Amino acid sequence: MTNYSIFLIDDEKVAREGVTMALRTHYRVEAFETAEDAMTALETGIPDLVLLDIGLPGMSGIEALEAMKTRYPDIVVIMITAFEDVDTVIQAMKLGAFDYMVKPLRMDALLVNIKNALETIAMRKEIQGLHEKYLKENLPCFIGESNAVQDVMDVVKRVAGSPDTPVLIVGQTGTGKELIAKAIHYRSPLFKGPLVSVNCAAIPKELIESELFGYEKGAFSGAAAKGKAGLVEQAAEGTLFLDEIGDLSMSAQAKLLRFLEYGEFYRVGGTQKHTVRPRLVSATNRGLSGMIKDGAFREDLYFRLAVVKIEVPSLTQRRDDILLIAKHFLVEFNEKFKKSFHGISPEAASALKAHGWKGNVRELKNIIERAVLMANGKELTAAHLGLNMPSHGKGEETENATPLPCLSENGVDFSALLASFEKRYFEEALEMANGNESKAAKLLGLTRDKFRYRRTKLIKG
Ligand SMILES: Nc1ncnc2c1ncn2[C@@H]1O[C@H](COP(=O)(O)OP(=O)(O)OP(=O)(O)O)[C@@H](O)[C@H]1O
Ligand SMILES: [Mg+2]
Repeated sequence: MTNYSIFLIDDEKVAREGVTMALRTHYRVEAFETAEDAMTALETGIPDLVLLDIGLPGMSGIEALEAMKTRYPDIVVIMITAFEDVDTVIQAMKLGAFDYMVKPLRMDALLVNIKNALETIAMRKEIQGLHEKYLKENLPCFIGESNAVQDVMDVVKRVAGSPDTPVLIVGQTGTGKELIAKAIHYRSPLFKGPLVSVNCAAIPKELIESELFGYEKGAFSGAAAKGKAGLVEQAAEGTLFLDEIGDLSMSAQAKLLRFLEYGEFYRVGGTQKHTVRPRLVSATNRGLSGMIKDGAFREDLYFRLAVVKIEVPSLTQRRDDILLIAKHFLVEFNEKFKKSFHGISPEAASALKAHGWKGNVRELKNIIERAVLMANGKELTAAHLGLNMPSHGKGEETENATPLPCLSENGVDFSALLASFEKRYFEEALEMANGNESKAAKLLGLTRDKFRYRRTKLIKG
C-alpha cells in the first residue's frame, strides 16, 4: 500500500463500497456520504486526492468543489459524474477540478487514472519544492518598500511567468537592473536553466557576434580549431541577459533582430541554421530613443526587445528606501567584516537621505561597505560615511556648502531656500566671471537683463 490518502464522496452506498474495496489495497481511503461530512473532515487535514460525485443530496458536488478550492487551493479533486453532462463537466474543470470520470466506474480505469493523478501531483510538488529551494538560494533580494519599487516588482512577477516575452530594463547606473534580470530568471519556469549574462560593452565590437552566436572552425584568424558555440546556444534552456545593449554594433543588432524574429541564427563562418529560443532580457542605462534618432540603434530591434519595459527608479526618486537599503548593507557588511554596528546616527541618516546618489544603490553599497570596514563603534556617523550635506556647484562636496534641510512635519521656508540657492549660484557665477554681469548671466543661461533683475531682487531681499 502506498502512503497516499484519498477521500471518496458518494451518496450511493453500493458505489461507495465498491470503490473503497478496489482502492483499499493501494491507498488509505476514507468514504463520506455527503459533501458536508467531507468538508468537516477536511478541517483536520487534506488528503492527496478527492474523488467527488457531482450528484449529491444537500451540498452538490459542484458547490463542494468550489468550497474546497476556495479554502484549500492546492487540493486535487477528480469529479465523478453519472452521465457526461458537458456543461457541468466544463464548470467543474473551470473551478479547478483535476479530471473527471463517468459512471459506471471501471475499476481498472479508475486505478490507472488515480495513479496518473498522484504521479502528476507528486511531480508538481517536487517542482514546486525545488523552485522554492532555488528561489531561497538564488533569488536576489531587491530591497525597497516604496511604491515605485513595489510597482517594479509587480511587473517582474507578472513577466517572469511568460518566458517568451522579451523584457528591456532601463534605469540609471547602479539602480539594480542586473538584480532585476536575475529576479526575472529565478522566478520564471526556466529557473533551473542557465542565466547567461553578456556585457555588450565589455566585449570588443569585432568579437561580439562570434561571442553571441559562436563560430565555425577557420571563421577568422585566432578562432579555436574546432569552432565554438555562442552564448545564445549556452542559454538555450534558460535566460540570455544582454547587459548594456546600447553598445551593440549595427551589424550585431541586425543579427540579433533576425534571431529574435525567427529564433534562428548562423554561427560566424557557418552555413548551418541553428534554432534556439532562450528567454531574452536586456538592459541599458543609455537613452535608446536618442540613439535611435541618431541612427545608432535600430528602432525595429528596440520594439522587439522592449515588449515589456521595466523602468527602475533612481535612488533619489525613492528616498524613503535609502535608510532601509543602508541598513540591509550594514547587516551584510557587519557580518562580512565581523563588526557590530547597531544602527545609523540621526545626522548620518539625514546626510544619506539628502545625498545626490548619482551612482544609486551601488554608490550607497560602496559607502556603507567602506564605512563598516574602516570604522569601529556601535553607530555609523556622517563622518564614518564621509558624506557632507549635498554639495553645490561643481559636483564635489565642499566644506562650506549650506546643508539643505530635509522636509519634516514642521515644513521648510521654501521661498527662503530658493532665494539662498539662487544667491549661491549668482555669487559663484559673478566670481567666475570676475564681476562681469554679461558673462555671469551666460554661465547661468540667463539674459543679462534677467540676471540683473533677479540679482537686484535678491539684494533687496
Ligand atoms: N534594491 C536593491 N536591494 C539590494 N541591493 C541592490 C538593490 N539595487 C541594487 N543593489 C546592489 O547594487 C549593486 C548594483 O546593482 P546592479 O549591478 O544590478 O545595477 P545596474 O543597474 O545593473 O548598474 P549598471 O547600469 O551600472 O550596470 C549590486 O551590488 C546590487 O546587488
Ligand atoms: Mg548592470
